Amino acid sequence: MPNKVLLYPSYHTFLVNGADTVLEAGLRAGLAMNYGCSSGNCGLCKARVVSGQTEKIRHQDYVLTEAEKNQGYVLLCSHTAASDLVIEAHEASRANEIQLQEIAARVKEVKPLTDKVMLLHLQTPRTNRLRFLAGQSVALSIGDDASDYAIASCPCDDRNLQFHIRDIPGNAFARHVFGGLRSGETVSVYGPVGEFVLKPESTRPLLLLACNSGFAPIKSLVEHAMSLERAESLHLYWLATVKGGHYLSNWCRSWADALDNFHYHELLAQSLEEPNPDQVLAQVVADHLDVAQYDVYISGPARFVSKAREALLQSGVPAAQVASAVI
Ligand code: FES
Repeated sequence: MPNKVLLYPSYHTFLVNGADTVLEAGLRAGLAMNYGCSSGNCGLCKARVVSGQTEKIRHQDYVLTEAEKNQGYVLLCSHTAASDLVIEAHEASRANEIQLQEIAARVKEVKPLTDKVMLLHLQTPRTNRLRFLAGQSVALSIGDDASDYAIASCPCDDRNLQFHIRDIPGNAFARHVFGGLRSGETVSVYGPVGEFVLKPESTRPLLLLACNSGFAPIKSLVEHAMSLERAESLHLYWLATVKGGHYLSNWCRSWADALDNFHYHELLAQSLEEPNPDQVLAQVVADHLDVAQYDVYISGPARFVSKAREALLQSGVPAAQVASAVI
């Protein structure tokens, strides 16, 4: 039987099975708990057990002081819940609460999504995972060739990082990816950065507008919102400017089939010259969404983002409810 953990002061709750540490279970539930190495060395996951029993299931080298032990502190990356728990633990709710990290990750997979977009799957060392919030970006580099990319996967799986790399002429990092980067090779990850993250504690429904590979951070936001189970509903509109540009449409459809509160709308641009958000916004209006009630996330080329943002503000969406990322 899983045990229930209540985190104080956020009052977030999640369940822990005996084989999982409290930290693993909390991250899987989408919570941005404090941690560093995940392996009992750094002490950053130290938290105070207010009530209940924990059990140590992983080795730890970090040594707590006698005073800390007496006050009930444990390392959440080495303990599971042996009963229901109340724990006093800090969680990051804003991007600037997460420190920059530099990690040498290994390529796990490079796979074409279209002839112009490649999936790059990196895996971090077990003891040096990337702590980030959904929607953030990192700098990826191979040697001196570096470029910024939005993370397209969920922070609830902090070892496996996915990116959608576009084939941009003159981009040296993309050349590596399209030119034969292989499994096992090393890519340096530096970050995270960016404020394109879920609003702390908001329970408003989410309206997500993506254009082309602007889908990458939106995918991360959707996966994170799903694991948090906080948003009442999610509406994703994905505009592509080329046929086949909805390169993960099966993924989106499977979310829509599995979840009553997830709605997916796929649009192909009428004009291939410039990605224009008018078509997306017309569809939003036709779907009778009262946009002012939503937290809105817009991601794509600069012109798409700025025009969509302007139109939404004019439609009465408060500026504080609109976040955007140029991809
Ligand atoms: S995360 Fe480093 S000791 Fe737990």
